Amino acid sequence: MSTPARHTHVTGWGRYAPSQVLTNADLETMVDTSDEWIVSRTGIRERRVAAAHETTASMAAVASMRAIRTAGIDPDDIDLILLATLTPDYWMPSTAALVKEAIGNTKAAAMDVAAACSGFVYAFATGQAYIAAGMAEHVLVIGAELLTRFLDYTDRNTCILFGDGAGAVVLSASHEPGGSLGVELTTEPQGAYMIWLPAGGAKSPPSAETVARGEHYVRMEGRETYRFATRTLATTALTAIEKAGLQPSDIDLFIPHQANIRIIEAVAKGLDLPMDRMFVNLDKYGNTSAASVPIALAEAVNEGRVKVGDNIVIVAFGAGFTSGAVAIEWTADPARGIAGDAAVTPDDVSVRLPVDWDSVDPIPEALAELMRRPGRVDVPLDDVVPGEPGPIHEEVRA
Ligand code: ACO
Repeated sequence: MSTPARHTHVTGWGRYAPSQVLTNADLETMVDTSDEWIVSRTGIRERRVAAAHETTASMAAVASMRAIRTAGIDPDDIDLILLATLTPDYWMPSTAALVKEAIGNTKAAAMDVAAACSGFVYAFATGQAYIAAGMAEHVLVIGAELLTRFLDYTDRNTCILFGDGAGAVVLSASHEPGGSLGVELTTEPQGAYMIWLPAGGAKSPPSAETVARGEHYVRMEGRETYRFATRTLATTALTAIEKAGLQPSDIDLFIPHQANIRIIEAVAKGLDLPMDRMFVNLDKYGNTSAASVPIALAEAVNEGRVKVGDNIVIVAFGAGFTSGAVAIEWTADPARGIAGDAAVTPDDVSVRLPVDWDSVDPIPEALAELMRRPGRVDVPLDDVVPGEPGPIHEEVRA
């Protein structure tokens, strides 16, 4: 008698974004740019900035506990924790290990996944493989980034794009059909130096000289990255859809990496689908790299954009160049997400700090000075969704 297939279902989802808001108007005071340029070229209006006490692990832990509450399981039911990030708290230990302790899990294996903005999709696929192999029943997959500490706030090419946040899902094994149906992952190393962070690794260890040269900041060839994204995203999504035995027209909602509205429009065009099949929230968060897909997924479900039985596709691209997509038949009650979010506040979760060690102030001075200015209003995540009208999609120049 053959063993029944093990399917991977998304049973929990959650997100966290810091409450400090950095608007395009703020950036106008820092670099030679304009709200009009940023909105027309990217679609981004504002992004979130982590406070000094927040870290990649702390944001990840809040999103994770929300996903675990949504799934209705205990933290200790998780067998594997995969945390996708390009901004870990430390080189070692893994940020996943810190999250494991913060959420009160005692039994999971925990590791980080490095695939830049595609990291969450790569981690999702890895979690699915563990479940399919019978090596895990519940996998916590997290995307978390604190990019604002790795940006040069004198470089208008990069600093306008990125923001901070975290999202997480719980993947659970089941013999019921549905859940993840098709996966596609690609890596094109020709693009390795198109988006990169030159110093701090073994090739160029951190030194006063690397800092003086600003090599500890993200560098990017925007146009090349844009070309890669528009060439690859639709193809990657299409392959995942075909592996699922579906057509693009069968997909109710795409949750693409939130890098640039023009890239998302190109995906829609490439798949011959209207923009209302594309979920967009980059106007509020900018590009949060590995966190962008799980934040968007949690928001799309909590906003009522996804129903049981819907086919959705998560799709991302990033440094490497990497890209990845998963076609999913949604099987969880969407209403659970709002309750899961409400059950966990940032104060409920804490990440243990090292003993007898004072870190330097982690916020770049230009940003810290701006955040100290009087009259700033912090916006808790709860104010963003649900209950707020969604952004009106405006056509922007291609
Ligand atoms: N404000 C005003 N002008 C600007 C700004 C700015 N913030 N940034 C660049 N410009 C200028 C440029 O200097 C250039 O001027 P020039 O013609 O005098 O040289 C002009 O605007 C046009 O620049 P382009 O780079 O051609 O602008 P483009 O339309 O390509 O938009 C952008 C730039 C938004 C970066 C776009 O290329 C893009 O989105 N690329 C993809 C980036 C991306 O998604 N990166 C994340 C990857 S995911 C990961 O793994 C981290």
